[in-house]
Amino acid sequence: MFDEVSPRYDLINDVLTVGNDRLWRIATTRAVAPREGMRILDLAAGTGTSAAALTAYGARVVAADFSEGMLAEGRKRHAQNELIEFVWADATELPFEDDSFDAATISYGLRNVNDPKRAIAEMRRVVKPGGRVVIAEFSRPPSPIVRAPYEFYGRHLLPRIAGAINRDAAEAYRYLNESIQAWPAQEELAAWLREAGLERVAYRNLTFGIVALHRGFVPAEAPKPAAKKPAAAKKPAAAAKPAVKKPAAAKPAAKKPAAKAPAPKNSSSGGEK
Ligand SMILES: C[S@@+](CC[C@H](N)C(=O)[O-])C[C@H]1O[C@@H](n2cnc3c(N)ncnc32)[C@H](O)[C@@H]1O
Repeated sequence: MFDEVSPRYDLINDVLTVGNDRLWRIATTRAVAPREGMRILDLAAGTGTSAAALTAYGARVVAADFSEGMLAEGRKRHAQNELIEFVWADATELPFEDDSFDAATISYGLRNVNDPKRAIAEMRRVVKPGGRVVIAEFSRPPSPIVRAPYEFYGRHLLPRIAGAINRDAAEAYRYLNESIQAWPAQEELAAWLREAGLERVAYRNLTFGIVALHRGFVPAEAPKPAAKKPAAAKKPAAAAKPAVKKPAAAKPAAKKPAAKAPAPKNSSSGGEK
């Protein structure tokens, strides 16, 4: 499905969100707090738009996704950006060593992963102690005044508008709406992060809660639960893709993220959970 929408994916996003996606990306980038010397995992990175925003601060970003179409589009668009490396990876079985990233983030991807709790556990596994996991995802506007028109828009208008831009996209965006409706609300996702062993979990609502920005920190001292070897990337052999590169675990100067990095501002319905 994502292979089909990849060429006009970002344009469709801009139109469907009336440009709000750009503001959401700024908020997400700030929540990740990228800095020069950091190595960051952008999971389900798609065409690399969110990864590129992180590299603007000098961080090196591994943009991982399992859609060939999205990766190809991303490689084409960001060919000049030496700080992004596009890697084929399944979010539920990451081909990276434990503690090999300073932070991990996923934007509008977790909802699409068939086992999202496992993907959160994987992000926690690959992030160093003290590092953060940041999730931007569509969520549930707490106010019924916003929720009713938003649900009408998602059900009736969104697939039509997307279909007008890219005929093949109508079905994908029908799925998008259904997946948003089925996705857990803010509190439940925060509970998933805590279950995965993340601490100082908090979330912030963006645009009335249409999107929620969650974050949690890998405990500074605690050992990883069930530390395991990185999985070999199980990409279908027929696609003959270049092998996933060995994670650059030994790269120097990956600065430890500051323990007191600013948290997402707590929303009225969110807060330190
Ligand atoms: C809506 S797009 C988001 C792309 C990008 N993060 C952004 O903000 O524009 C969702 C992405 O999740 C990827 N995806 C879904 N399930 C995945 C999985 N199990 N492993 C890796 N990527 C996955 C899809 O291929 C797609 O590129």
